[in-house]
Amino acid sequence: MGAIFIAMEGLDGSGGTTQTARLADWLRSNGHAEVVTTAEPSTGPAGRFIRDVLNPQHEASVIGDAVLPFLFAADRRDHLDREVIPALQRGAAVITDRYYHSSLAYQSLAVGLPTVADLNERFRAPDITIFLDLEPEVSLARIEARGGTLERFEAIDRLRSIAEAYDAVLVHCRARGEHIVRISADGSIDDVHKRVVEAVQSTIEALS
Ligand SMILES: Nc1ncnc2c1ncn2[C@@H]1O[C@H](COP(=O)(O)OP(=O)(O)O)[C@@H](O)[C@H]1O
Ligand SMILES: [Mg+2]
Repeated sequence: MGAIFIAMEGLDGSGGTTQTARLADWLRSNGHAEVVTTAEPSTGPAGRFIRDVLNPQHEASVIGDAVLPFLFAADRRDHLDREVIPALQRGAAVITDRYYHSSLAYQSLAVGLPTVADLNERFRAPDITIFLDLEPEVSLARIEARGGTLERFEAIDRLRSIAEAYDAVLVHCRARGEHIVRISADGSIDDVHKRVVEAVQSTIEALS
């Protein structure tokens, strides 16, 4: 099977990381010789810098919200050049746990969608973007059950604003011709996985 570029998106707690791993397993057992799972922020130098800046223990950090979209865009360029594009050129299936839709949603709250959209318009669009759709309350319950420290983005009001921002982002990206599938992330991990596989299977058929 040929190269396919898949982006997993959704609120924190919607199951993106879980479903990325499940989908990778499914692709491996269903004919994809090479499956690469990756994430943004990436593991490269710009990605490590972003993780450091977002660390809640560095709340007093001097990096302002207006700077973040540039950092994410720089990391995205590096991530694509270093990891994603070479893998696609080898014929791999690449799943990225978050992509520019996350930037568009999260950073539009600080600087507005047009500014973030301008910074991201030249990056390669995914063949399919899966948006895991979940009520902010349920997302928060899952985050709390997962334990660990709450990040800056994880309070309920924040989740509600991000959910609204994502709605606008999906409209914007679909208007550019992107293939985005909104999938209910409610129910068991297996239930959601089945929905994800269905959407990816139709995309694979459409590409071949
Ligand atoms: N369908 C589901 N039902 C219940 N809990 C889930 C489901 N999917 C994921 N989880 C759990 O919710 C938490 C958040 O999932 P995760 O995949 O880390 O989400 P995200 O990467 O979107 O923040 C994890 O503890 C995970 O095990
Ligand atoms: Mg995650």
